[in-house]
This record gives sequence, structure tokens and C-alpha cells, in this order.
Amino acid sequence: MQLGYQFSEKKMRSRVSDFVWKRLSSRVRNIDPIMKRSLIVFSLAAATVASAQTNALEMHMSAGQNVAAPVLQIDAGKVTGKVSPTLYGLMTEEINFSYEGGLYGELIRNRTFKSSVQNPVFWSAVGDTKIAIDTNQPLNAALNLSLRLDTSKATKESPVGIANGGYWGIPVKSGMTYRASFYARTKDFSGPVTVAIENTNSHQVLARATVSHVSGGWKKYEVTLKTGNVEATKNTRFVLSTTKSGSLFHKNGTIWLQNVSLFPPTFNNRPNGNRPDIMEIMGDMHPKFLRFPGGNYVEGSNMKDRFNWKETIGDVTQRPGHRSPWGYWSTDGMGLLEFLDWCEDLHMEPVLAVFAAYTLDKKHVDAAPYVQEALEEIEYVTGDAKTTKWGAQRAKDGHPAPFPLHYVEVGNEDWFDPSNSYEERFAQFYDAIKAKYPQLKVISTMGYEHPDKVVKSRVPDLVDEHYYRNQEEMMAHALDYDKYSRTNPTKIFVGEWATRVGSPTPNMAGALGDSAWMTGMERNSDIVLISCYAPMFVNVSQLNGRDRSMQWPSDLIGYDALSSYGSPSYYAQKMFSTMRGDEILGTDSQNIPTREWRPRANRNGNAPAPQQIREVFFDATRDSGSGLIYLKVVNASSSAQKIDVQINGAAGVESTGEAVVLAASALDDTNTLQEPTKIVPRTEKAEGLGASFTREFPAYSLTVLKIKTR
Ligand code: AHR
Repeated sequence: MQLGYQFSEKKMRSRVSDFVWKRLSSRVRNIDPIMKRSLIVFSLAAATVASAQTNALEMHMSAGQNVAAPVLQIDAGKVTGKVSPTLYGLMTEEINFSYEGGLYGELIRNRTFKSSVQNPVFWSAVGDTKIAIDTNQPLNAALNLSLRLDTSKATKESPVGIANGGYWGIPVKSGMTYRASFYARTKDFSGPVTVAIENTNSHQVLARATVSHVSGGWKKYEVTLKTGNVEATKNTRFVLSTTKSGSLFHKNGTIWLQNVSLFPPTFNNRPNGNRPDIMEIMGDMHPKFLRFPGGNYVEGSNMKDRFNWKETIGDVTQRPGHRSPWGYWSTDGMGLLEFLDWCEDLHMEPVLAVFAAYTLDKKHVDAAPYVQEALEEIEYVTGDAKTTKWGAQRAKDGHPAPFPLHYVEVGNEDWFDPSNSYEERFAQFYDAIKAKYPQLKVISTMGYEHPDKVVKSRVPDLVDEHYYRNQEEMMAHALDYDKYSRTNPTKIFVGEWATRVGSPTPNMAGALGDSAWMTGMERNSDIVLISCYAPMFVNVSQLNGRDRSMQWPSDLIGYDALSSYGSPSYYAQKMFSTMRGDEILGTDSQNIPTREWRPRANRNGNAPAPQQIREVFFDATRDSGSGLIYLKVVNASSSAQKIDVQINGAAGVESTGEAVVLAASALDDTNTLQEPTKIVPRTEKAEGLGASFTREFPAYSLTVLKIKTR
């Protein structure tokens, strides 16, 4: 997480008029960004005096006296750049029960019994029996222990078994079909095993199926369960039980179990697949890429728990699993191929983060073996199924066709590495990847928000910048990318960003900060090629306590076992992503209302001076095919704003268009599981448009105005 680094130029920026700023910026536009920063700061010191009058006027306006209407000017004759077609994507890692208890369909928690080697956590005994972890009866080297169930006291009237409450409940709806499976081996036992989903309080059985004969060495057993006409509930548990105590000649039977699994219907009916409702929410955003598997998750808390991709492929029972840096066990059921299938299902490209020989315990190791591992991983993703080793492995795992891949990121947030070993590690990865895959764009994790740390020995194709901020900080920084160099060959990936206001999911204040920020990324998407919000998911079932489902507040999409919803920030992003255009139009503005903001103190406890920050943000893009202009206007103020819009350089502007508006009556208005659509975009006809028009933009709103032009 980045800790609020601020260029001093940004402080200066807020103190001069647009006019002064533009003249300065255009003078230094084509210089190296670090040199540029010094020049701007120097020039601004001089310019501040000259702009004192303008400043005084802006302060005066913000005080609300004699306020002139804000003016937004769009130059339809001036295309300043192409909107990056891949600007909006998704970022994912195992955090907040994103896959286990989230997107990944598995409903049984701790299906492999490896969450704790001492106890069968999340499992309980049913009936008169004892259950225990047994390291002497492993299924295989990956799942190297099992759960032992003593059946000796089982009777028809009083079965014995094990129960699992899932991830804060097992979802039950009418007419749902589940696939249950388990591995079992027995001693002195031969008989039926029943699996069921039952109501936790009433013990009413909602779905049931029986394997008639379980006996002998390790074998996989599978059944299908179906619910009837039932009320939707998550107040449920899964029960595996038997009524038989032993075999014909022995009364004291034992069953060992491993990989006890229950799957609901999945998106596209993929066997080891994903929850359909969450896939649909994401799909509605039309994301262009998926950055995976992290985030901290790619690094791991230590070497043992890094994301070791080779241990995440093939049959799920060959995946040992590992502990997520966010504190809970991952079975790695969501492995490399599942990430790629997810991309395919939502028509996204992977942005593949490879392990870069550095872990979160601040240790780095010789990179050479991991460079090789990364090359093999790229081959697994893209290699030919017939002529490459890892392409053939992918085909064996079920996907003969290679996946498209353009971006590979080396590590994550390596500015945390106190030894500064990234320069060298990046160079090793960069050279090897470029040598074998010259077409790939290689991303460095050192962005310009850490200017003293950017990689120098190689020219990364992109750098990954991370911004976690509050609403005012997002607004104060929304114009930052206007100042980046246009000639720098290194482009920008905003690989993690979010306005962290509202929990578990952001509220309208978050959506406004995000929207202001997105106008800046979109207006500069000639250099900001890709971007993704983080974190994307949160299981909202249990927000506090030791066994909490949330590790990081303010996440884009929330869910429990039964249902899911998008936050206001989700809808804002969906609006940007689905109404994008392909040309960035020149814009200018006057009389933008501002308000005073006191930035929070820095790490040394020094509170920076108060600044004026804008309350209205905008950008304009156009669909070159149809001439449709998308004017995005963010009004972050508490009152509606009458804004003059002027469109120059268009042969004609139609008077009727469309407005898509996301608005709230208070900053803390939000969506929840109970009120999932309290804040959603509304579409309305927009009239009175033209080359020059005035429109009222509601308080606390994001509006996308679709203006038809010739
Ligand atoms: O998004 C949550 C975490 O924030 C990511 O894992 C990490 O990259 C960043 O610090």
C-alpha cells in the first residue's frame, strides 16, 4: 500500500490558475519526468506571485459570492490522443475470501483439512463419534493428511459423520443441483455414506444423496444432490454421515476422508468453476484484462507460501495449497488455468504477475530459478500445445488453445524491498522475457510515485503505480497525469487504486473520489494504458472478529453465500468502462468551484498547509465511428451545479442526447446486501443540448452525457 507520497509540484499546482499551469506544463511537456518535476516546481515558485490575483479570485468564488457559472469547453476539432482500449480492467488476489468463500464455486470450507494440521477446523462431529486429523493416512504427497472418522457407534437411528458450515453458510435455493464428491479409504468398514444439506436449526434436510457402498482403499465417490421447492437460505450445513458401524465381521469401522467437495452450478458449467452471479457482475463492467494473482498474494508471506504456479495446476487433489498472506488457507482450487479460464469467460486478457524472488518477509533470493519459472509460466499460458512442454501440459490440463498475452508484471510493490534488490532482479527478468518473448510488454512495479526507486538499468514498457487515498486526496490528485511526459517510452499501469471511504464496500464519497480520478486517467489514457481498482472482492458475512471474512475495508463488490452486489464505486467504474469512446478530445475550463481542504499529516506528523481543491471534474471522449461524445462530469459538491458546456469544432451538435446519472443525497449513501441497488445509474433523455448549453448537474453525482455530433 502506498503511503500518500506527494510531489511538491502538486501543492504548487493547486495555487495557480489553469492558464499559468498550462503554459508551464506545455513548456516542459517533453522532458524526462523527474527533470520536469524540478523545472515545474522551480517555475511555479516564480509563477505563484504572478498568480496571486487569480488565486484570490478563485478563493473568493469558493466562498460563494458573485460566483460565475463553471464553463466546460470541449474542442471537438482537437484529438489529443487515443483512449486506450485496454484502460479498464480488473485486479484480483486471494484477500477478503475472494476465491475461497467467494468467486470459486467450492462450498465446503477446509475441504482438504489442511487449514490446521492440529484440528479439523470448520468441521464438527455428528453423532456419537470422534474425528481427528491423521497424518498417517495421506491421500497423496500433495494432500498429505486426512480426516479420520470413527464409525463404531453408528446406527440407523443415530448416524455418525462430519458437518461443515461452508463459508458462513451453504447457499440453498429452489431447484438447485449440487455435485458432491469425496475421497475415502476404510478399515473394517463397508457400507453407505450419505451427503446432505440441512437447515442448521431445524435439521430439516434440504437435499440428500447416498453413495451405497464405500469400502477399501482410496477412491473417489461422486453424487448429485437437488433441492426441491425451498425458501432461499444460508442457514445451513453440509453433513456427510453413515448409519453403519463397521463391516460384516468387524463392528469398529474407520473411514478416512479427503477433498470433501460440494459444487453448485457454475458459470458456463465449468467443472471446477466460478459463481455465476459474481461473474455476471464483473462481466457487466466489460473489463479488458485481469491482473492476477496479486498483489501480495503473488509474493506470499514467505518462500513456502508464495504463489507457486506449478502447484496450482492439474487435478485439484494434486495441489498442496498454501496460506494466503491475508491469513487463511487457500486450496489453490483457483489455480493458474482457472484464472485463465476466468479471463476467457469474460473476454479479458491476462496481465500476468510473475513471482519475482521477493517475499513479504522482506527477503529476496537468487532470481535465476524464478526467471526460468516465469518463462515456463509464460509458455504454459501461450505455448503451442504440440511443440512446447508447458503448452502440452496446458492441453493435458484441458485447454489446448493458447491464451492471448501482452503484459507480464515482474513482482509486486517491490519498493518495500529494503535491500533495493529490484533493480537487479528486474533486469534479469526483463532480459530473459524480452529474449524469448520480444513481443511482450514487461511491467516494473516501481512507478513514478516512488521517483527515487524507478528502475534505471532497463526501460520498462510500463510501470505500475498504486494509489490508495481518501476522497479529497483522490480529487487533489485527479490532474496528476496531465503533467506526465508524453515522450517517455515507459507508459503507466495504475495497477491498484481506490478511494478508501466506506466499508466493507465504498460509499458515494468513494465513488466521487474514484470518478474524479478516472476522469484524469481517461483524459491521459494515451499514456495510462491500463488500470484496475483494488481490491475487487469482499465476503461481507463477518466483518469483525478472529474469523472475519474481510481483511481490507473498501472493496468494489460485496457478497455472502447467497447474493452479491456492486458498490457505488462499482457503478461509477462500469459507467466509465462501458461509455469509453476511442478519441480523447481537447478540453478547457473556467470558474471551476473549489473548496478548502486540509491534507492529513504526513508520516513525520507535519500537517501540510490547507489547499483549494476542485469540486468539479470532467473529461470528454468521442466514438470516432458515430461522432458520439461522452462528456463525463463529476460534481462532488453538496449542491447542484449549473454548468455551461461549450463544444467547438463540431459541424453539428444534436439537441437531444442521453444522460446516465449516478447520484446520491449524502456522501455516506451506499449499497449493501440488503439494499443492493440503492445507488445505481439512471438513464434519462437529455434535451436542450447544442454547441453551447447550460445543464444542471446534481449534487454528489457522476453524469455521462452522450452528445450526438457530426
Ligand atoms: O490491494 C490490497 C494490497 O494492497 C495488495 O495486495 C498490495 O499489492 C497492496 O499493498
